Amino acid sequence: MRIDILTLFPGFFKSPLAESILQRAQEKGILNIGITNIRDHTTDRHHVTDDYPYGGGAGMVMKPEPIARAIQALCEEGQKPHVIYLTPQGQLFNQERAKALAQKERLILLCGHYEGIDERIRLLHVHEEVSIGDYVLTGGETAALAVIETVARMIPGVLGNESSYKNDSFYAGLLDYPQYTRPEEFEGERVPEVLLSGHHKKIEEWRRRQALSRTLRVRPDLLEQAQLSDQDMVWLEELRKEIKAQ
Ligand code: 6GU
Repeated sequence: MRIDILTLFPGFFKSPLAESILQRAQEKGILNIGITNIRDHTTDRHHVTDDYPYGGGAGMVMKPEPIARAIQALCEEGQKPHVIYLTPQGQLFNQERAKALAQKERLILLCGHYEGIDERIRLLHVHEEVSIGDYVLTGGETAALAVIETVARMIPGVLGNESSYKNDSFYAGLLDYPQYTRPEEFEGERVPEVLLSGHHKKIEEWRRRQALSRTLRVRPDLLEQAQLSDQDMVWLEELRKEIKAQ
């Protein structure tokens, strides 16, 4: 997969892309990430990328020409990219949207700043608008990184274990169960006995019940979409009673 980031702050991405899983994916050639400085596509002497909003009001708006030129330059080589604009006005990003994006050959992630971009870029060049949550960041860069990380780990070969992302929170619709490693006792807290038992079926059941318990307490909204077995329903009933009794 190729991902091109369009940004006014290319330096922002330096270290996040040069570490850990994203770096290894790029080294393996599974993921190819390009960074375009929108300012490099200005044509005026002062390299201006923003201007006052028509109609007045606070803040500045990103000018359309440099963005359009940057997108056009990328479209000249190879397959047509799917263009995503990162904005708090976009549709909420989640695991399902990431899964759809992981199927694309090429993405462009356009990072907005100030009061946003000229509307005509949205109309003419953007295929999809994405927000990472109901809060306002200073720009789209942090959101672009979130999208890249989420999508990258869904591409075959990026994670060590092929199937591991499928067990993650949200993939199965529930939050993850608790994890423990050595030592067996830490600051007076012991690892749950069942995990030391070697009894695989009991461990599976404990983990599923823990996942249901966490989800019920922290994100009960997720249970409406989750695929639940008859056993899950029984456990949920028990867990609801436990919560009430507390
Ligand atoms: Cl994509 N951009 C900005 N500026 N703020 C956000 C966001 C994006 N998603 C949530 N907040």
